[in-house]
Amino acid sequence: MDDEELLRTVPIFSELSEQDIGSLARLATRRRFPKDTVVFFENEEGDTFFMIVDGRIKVTILGDDGREIILSVLGPGDFFGEMALLDNEPRSATTIAVEETELLTLQRVDFQSVLTDNRSITSALIKVLTSRLRRANHQISTLALLDVYGRVARVILDMAREEGKRLKDGRIAFRRATHQEIANRIGTTRETVTRMLKDLERQGLIHVDGKEIVLQPDFEKVFD
Ligand code: CMP
Repeated sequence: MDDEELLRTVPIFSELSEQDIGSLARLATRRRFPKDTVVFFENEEGDTFFMIVDGRIKVTILGDDGREIILSVLGPGDFFGEMALLDNEPRSATTIAVEETELLTLQRVDFQSVLTDNRSITSALIKVLTSRLRRANHQISTLALLDVYGRVARVILDMAREEGKRLKDGRIAFRRATHQEIANRIGTTRETVTRMLKDLERQGLIHVDGKEIVLQPDFEKVFD
């Protein structure tokens, strides 16, 4: 795919004319990040806006003790790095490529002029930021209101709904994240997640199948 085709796959640019996509493509630069490399750290100054072409980016906050909390995992068509450009504050989180990842980048001045010139992008951007806020609210309620068992169940349900595929029989199959990744989404330990997943499997609510976890239809009834 050339850069213009790639930009078309980014939903916030979907309303742009051929001509505007063309000028945007001339301003954008492609960058490739190997697995486990940091794109930028929390608290750095930031001058760049990023769009994911291929791969996955983990948005994370690292505690002083080395523990991390994963705010989100973004994939193709998603963007990040807009906050520091919109409010001129330092980066609000660290971003890491969790697999080999290709990004398109725009510099601050270009991002700002694209926003000023195209109302459709501003409203599409607000829509995405609103849905991120809804998701963050949901995450806060999960962390604050549920016990650790409920949190593990809820994060699994969220991951299944966000990235999984629903099978004809109503079950949902999704990528089997590492137990550490699940733990880092809800501020618990890997050992706790391992124990809870075994328990859910023993109850017949999930089935771990190679690289996938499959949720039984009853799972949603119990934990939704
Ligand atoms: P910025 O603050 O520039 O750098 C970190 C980026 O992570 C931020 O812009 C957003 O693009 C992204 N980000 C921060 N918090 C969240 C969140 N809760 N959900 C998804 N993305 C986020």
